[in-house]
Amino acid sequence: MAFGHGKVILFGEHGVVHGRPALAAALSRGARAEAHPADRPLLEVEPWGVAIEPSADGDDGPGTDNAGLRRAFAALLSGYPEPPQLRVAAELTVPGGAGLGGSAALSVAVVRALDAALGVERGNVEVAELAQRAEKVFHGNPSGVDAAMAAHGGVALFSKARGVRPVRLATALPLVVGYSGEQGSTKKTVASVARQLQRDPGRVEKIFDGMEAIVDNGKLALEAGALEDLGQLMVLNQKLLVALMLSTTRLEEMCRAAIDAGALGAKLTGGGGGGCMIALARDLKAAEHVQAALTAMAPDAFIAEVTP
Ligand code: PMV
Repeated sequence: MAFGHGKVILFGEHGVVHGRPALAAALSRGARAEAHPADRPLLEVEPWGVAIEPSADGDDGPGTDNAGLRRAFAALLSGYPEPPQLRVAAELTVPGGAGLGGSAALSVAVVRALDAALGVERGNVEVAELAQRAEKVFHGNPSGVDAAMAAHGGVALFSKARGVRPVRLATALPLVVGYSGEQGSTKKTVASVARQLQRDPGRVEKIFDGMEAIVDNGKLALEAGALEDLGQLMVLNQKLLVALMLSTTRLEEMCRAAIDAGALGAKLTGGGGGGCMIALARDLKAAEHVQAALTAMAPDAFIAEVTP
C-alpha cells in the first residue's frame, strides 16, 4: 500500500510562502492508495465517496463539484508519458481542509501507487515535485512544504530555496492535534497575507522576521530536547499569526484550554482561518490530559507523538 504523510507545521507557516524557513513534522497519518488495472484512469477517494476521471480543464458536467480534484488528478498524470490504465483507490486518514497537509498526502500516495503499479522508480524529491503540481491546483501558491513533508516524512526545516533539511530530534514530541471544526481555506488565507504584505510591507516583513527567529530558535530547541522552550516559542508564533489575522475565536479558545490543561504551548497549524491547532505536552500522560480538555471543543482531538 502506497503512503503519503500528513504533517503539522511546528513554526513558520505563511512566512514560508514568502521565502522564509518553516519547521514541520510529518504525521503517521496521511493518505494511502493502491492502483488496480482498469480500462481508463480513475481516482476514488474515501471518506469523500468520490470517483473521478482526470480533466485538465476541470469540466465536471452538471451536478458534480469535483473540478479541483479532477484538475489535480490530471496534473499528477502529467508526470506520466501516457494516461495509465489504472484505478487508484485512495483513503485519507487526516481530515481535509484542516491544515494537516491532507491534499499533499493524497497526491504523494497516488503518485506512489501509480509508480508501484507501473514499475516506475522515483525518488522522494521527484515524488514531491510531481505532487506539487496538484498542490498548485488545490492551493494556488503553495510553498511546497506540504508536498515535501508528505514525501520525505520525519521532522525538517523547509524553505523554497533549500527544500527539505532533516532535523534530528533529541527527544520525542508529545503533540496533541485538535480540529476546530471550522474548515479553513489555505488558498484564502495565503491570499490575505499576500494582500497585507502588499499594503504594508514594512509591518508584514517584521512579522516574518519574528517568525524566522522563532524557527531558528525552534530548531535549536528541537535538537536540544528543550520542550519548555519549544512551548514558549509556540505561544510567540501564535501571537504573530494572530497579528496576521489568521486565528479565530475558536482556535484561541482551544489554545487557551490546552494551556490551562498543562500544555507547554499551543498554536494554530497550517493555513489558519479555522483548521487545526497543536499543543505540546511534557509527556504522553500530560498529552492525554490536554486531549481530554480539548475533547469538548474538538471531539476528534488526537495525540501525535513525533519520535526522533
Ligand atoms: O493548510 P495547509 O496544511 O495546506 O498548510 C499551509 C501552510 C502555509 O504555509 C500556510 C501555506 C504553504 O503553502 O506553505
